[in-house]
Amino acid sequence: MLSQDELKTLVGQAALQYVIPGEIVGVGTGSTVNKFIDALATMKDRIPGAVSSSEASTQRLQALGIQVFDANEVGELSVYIDGADEIDGRGHMIKGGGAALTREKIVAAQSRRFICIADESKRVEVLGRFPLPVEVIPMATQRLVRQFEALGGQARIRLKDGQPLVTDNGQHILDVTGLQIHEPLAFESEVNQWPGVVTVGVFAHQRAQVCLLGTASGVQTLRY
Ligand code: A5P
Repeated sequence: MLSQDELKTLVGQAALQYVIPGEIVGVGTGSTVNKFIDALATMKDRIPGAVSSSEASTQRLQALGIQVFDANEVGELSVYIDGADEIDGRGHMIKGGGAALTREKIVAAQSRRFICIADESKRVEVLGRFPLPVEVIPMATQRLVRQFEALGGQARIRLKDGQPLVTDNGQHILDVTGLQIHEPLAFESEVNQWPGVVTVGVFAHQRAQVCLLGTASGVQTLRY
């Protein structure tokens, strides 16, 4: 029986097949992506580098000798590789458990294909079991808590060392429990336009085209 960590290593390595030699790759954030970054180092001489979705991934990429480009320096990317906190049967995801959702969505939007790498614990029928991360402008926090309440959700500000966590973009995160997101596209569109929301952690407009899912019987390739 493989451990969750071993499943993450397997899918991280499997994602290398989607990296196109000679092209810059979009890189997500999280413990599964860290396995991908480690694997990517084995082919670093065959790619110009990466566009990164967080300070944490940037540090790991650079420590392994992989050049990191600013998103504004490059055009459309062919592929973006990232993990997820949940993924449904249509490639819609919840992301942001690592607080990097805004930059993740930016790099995903700049990429033609989203390849999700995940262990099978992330696979769900309906999004919402994992608390939904929402990056918010601090001034709007309490009003947004009430807006989520009206939808049946309980929103809590994410803390780090007893203080509100501050994202790479200088904003805060609300984690919302109690939601069942049956229509991810409509939900994402609605919440995105609430004043004070920077990014909602539903990735439906930027859904995955492929999921490499680590299971007890090996890596399954799911296409959407
Ligand atoms: C980071 O903000 C998230 O979107 C991650 O992609 C997600 O939390 C998956 O992380 P793990 O690979 O660590 O589970």
